[in-house]
This record gives sequence, C-alpha cells and structure tokens, in this order.
Amino acid sequence: MSLVQKYNVPGPRYTSYPTVPYWEENLFSIDQWKNAVIQSFIATNKSEGISLYIHLPFCESLCTFCGCNKRITKRHDVEKPYITALLKEWDLYCELLPQRPNIKEIHLGGGTPTFFSSDNLTSLINGLFKNANKAKDYEFSFEGHPNNTTYEQLQTLYNLGFRRVSFGVQDYAEKVQKAIHRNQPFHNVAKVTFWAREIGYTSIGHDLIFGLPFQTLEDVLDTIAKTNSLQPNRIAFYSYAHVPWIKGNGQRGFKDEDLPKDDIKRKLYEIGKKELLKHNYTEIGMDHFALKSDSMTKSFETGKLHRNFMGYTSSKTEVMIGLGVSSISDSWNAFAQNEKTLEDYYAKLDEDKLPIFRGHILNSEDLIIRKHILNLMCQFKTSWNDANTYFSEIETVLSNLTEMEKDGLLKFKNQSIIVTEKGKPFVRNICMAFDLRLKRKAPQTQLFSMTI
Ligand SMILES: C[S@@+](CC[C@H](N)C(=O)[O-])C[C@H]1O[C@@H](n2cnc3c(N)ncnc32)[C@H](O)[C@@H]1O
Ligand code: SF4
Repeated sequence: MSLVQKYNVPGPRYTSYPTVPYWEENLFSIDQWKNAVIQSFIATNKSEGISLYIHLPFCESLCTFCGCNKRITKRHDVEKPYITALLKEWDLYCELLPQRPNIKEIHLGGGTPTFFSSDNLTSLINGLFKNANKAKDYEFSFEGHPNNTTYEQLQTLYNLGFRRVSFGVQDYAEKVQKAIHRNQPFHNVAKVTFWAREIGYTSIGHDLIFGLPFQTLEDVLDTIAKTNSLQPNRIAFYSYAHVPWIKGNGQRGFKDEDLPKDDIKRKLYEIGKKELLKHNYTEIGMDHFALKSDSMTKSFETGKLHRNFMGYTSSKTEVMIGLGVSSISDSWNAFAQNEKTLEDYYAKLDEDKLPIFRGHILNSEDLIIRKHILNLMCQFKTSWNDANTYFSEIETVLSNLTEMEKDGLLKFKNQSIIVTEKGKPFVRNICMAFDLRLKRKAPQTQLFSMTI
C-alpha cells in the first residue's frame, strides 16, 4: 500500500484547536466570551494589538468547488445594510473594551470583498477607525476576485493602508474552469496582478488548488508556469476540500468520479511543489509557498509564523475579532462563532446582541495541545521539554507516532519531533496524533475533508 493510500483519511485542517466540531458548546456562554476577550485584550492591546477578520459574503456567481460561506446575488443594494451591520457589531465590541483598540491586522475575506464598491469599502474601514488606532507595523490584507477587482478598488484600499492582496486563481485549464463554473482567463489575473504591483502592493498572492475535477498533471504544470510568469509573492496551493455534505456550499456540477483519485491527486501536489521550489518559492507551511523575500518566509525562518482562522499570518495577536456572518473570533483561551446565515446575523444585531451562536472555552490541556499543533503547522516541529508543553498523555501520542517514524515522515530528537521533507504533505495526520479530543471521540459521520 502506498503512503497516500495509508494516510488519506478524513482530518481537520487545524485552523484552530480544538476543531469546531469538538467545541463544548454546552459549556460556553456569551458572558464568558466577553470576559475572555476583555482579559486577553487588557493583557495584549498595548504590546501587540488586535486583529480583525471581516467576512464579506456576497459573490455574483457560484463557483461549484467553493467551500466558503457565501451568498450569491447580483443585487448590490445588499452592500450598505451589511456594512451598517458590521459597524454595529464592531461598536458592540468597542463598548465592551476598556481602552481604544490598536488594530494590528485587518483581513477582508469572503465571499468576495471586491463585490463591494470602493465607497462602501471606504465607509467600512473609516468606520472601524472611529473607535480605534492603527498599531505600529499594521498589516491590512484582502481577497480579490480577478474577474471583478477594479483599479479603483485596489487604489482605494491601498490609500486606506492595505499592502497585501490575494487573488483566487484555482486553475487555468478551460475544462476545469467549466466544471467549477468559473470562467477566468489568464489575462484577467495578469491585469489585476500588474495593477496591484504598479499601485505599490508589497505582497500579492495567488490561490491555486490541486485535486479539482478533470485536472491533470499537464494542467497543474501549465497553471504553475503561468502563475510563475507573474511572480506573485505568495502562493497558496490548496488541496481541494470536497465537503458536499456542508449545507448550502453548492459543491455540485461534477461527479465524485470526475475528481482525481488519491494517488493522482498526490502527484498533482508533488509536481506542483517541485515546480514552485524550482522557481525560488519556499514551502512555509501546509499548502503555502512564498518567495524568499516575502515577510511570510522571514516569519517562517525566524519561528514567528502563526496560523489562525484566516490561515497563515506573519505575526500573532492573542485577540482576533471576527466580524460578519459566520466569522470566528479567538481570544486565545476562548473561541466564538457568529451566526451562519445573514438573516440570523441581522436578527441578533437588531436586538443589540453580539451575533454569536456557539463557542468554546479552552481548558489547560487544550492550550498545550493547541501549542503543539501550531508548532507543527507553522514550524514542522514541536517539543515537550517544559511545563508549558508537557502533558500527561504524551507517551500515548508518541507511541501513535512510531509508525509514522518508520514510514520516514518524522524524526524523534531528544524531547521533540521534526517533520521530514517526506512528511510535510502528511502534517495534518501528524497533528491528528496530538488531537486528544479526536482520539477520545471518533466522529460517527464524515466531518472533515480527506487529509491528502
Ligand atoms: C474567498 S475565496 C477568494 C476570493 C474570491 N471569492 C475568489 O474566488 O477569487 C478564498 C479561496 O479559498 C479557496 N477555496 C475555496 N473553496 C475551496 C475548497 N473547497 N477547497 C480548497 N480551497 C478552496 C480558493 O482557492 C479561493 O480562492
Ligand atoms: S470561490 Fe470566491 S467567488 Fe467563487 S463562490 Fe467561492 S467565494 Fe465566491
């Protein structure tokens, strides 16, 4: 049996620990959440500031591979009420916080942030700073759709302090684009990439995916060659997450048989990775590559890389507030998630309540496991040589890892493990060995996408 067949099992992508299906929602209350935010905020606002993730859910047309929370509409009169709701939610947080927040990071994610007009994006960002300051070395970023990002939007967001943008590319092959309902010619991507560079953006990212319907090795090679010709600073090379059971995500329009099988999917990744490494990109974490000159590579090399619900970030803040429908917030020792439909999100805000519907308070064991999983995802290594990293079940975890050691995926060294080059594609499986909540209660139905 190949390693891929052996290790391709359903598993979390670990943007949090505990993962969302393992949150103890019954032990969570909004009052505990508020308290957790206030405590972490007081401890860190001056030193590191806070991050904001803002979910902008609207898209004009549905891409049938997409696993994000989105609402498809061509009506742009949805923009203003949504911005008003976001600012109301932010006001509720600002009333709670004992000082004026210092915002270190803003990330506009989606859906499609560039669905919104420049004027509405300006109202949003200016609205946030009525009650907040910019922290030193702030980093603002957004996700743009190459088919609808305008020069004006790029210039407007640049003027508001944004220096990082990532564009959804996925794959350039026509048959793949047709299957995922995303007609997006190369020249659209080239145009927005050139504009962003001309305006002065210092980090431009492209999102690619392997494992899409009908995708072949030639398609990946061609997509990477085209991507490489534009030299984006960062490249996300995601494994296609097939999660059709998630309500409302619209993964249809192709059959399961149209997806590349396990071993082929792995080859798509390997060939893509080989090309990227050949062209001066460094693999800085699961699914992510960056040019040597990019701040993300520097963070990876200096051990400062961090991972949260936004994906990888080049620095860490303990407090991350997620605004908007379905957003997740993190106060380091607690998580909270907002209502997942626009209707429920608006309804709670209309009652002047934080629009949260579930959360989790981390216990001391969760905090230690969270650290190990972060170390593995951000540094490809972890150790358990002090009180902050040792936990009573470490021996069981280590015995679960011996098989992976035999397979050459990791090495033990003193009280630490190091993921080998061969083991990097299996980092989710290695993290799963540390996931005590998953070990104690295996899911009854499939909750997660496949690890490979
Ligand atoms: C919110 S979208 C990017 C912005 C914009 N909406 C667009 O499509 O260009 C975020 C990225 O998530 C990735 N993504 C979405 N669904 C995925 C899935 N099922 N598996 C893997 N990656 C996925 C895609 O690469 C996509 O570009
Ligand atoms: S990939 Fe982007 S544009 Fe397509 S549906 Fe998902 S969020 Fe919307």
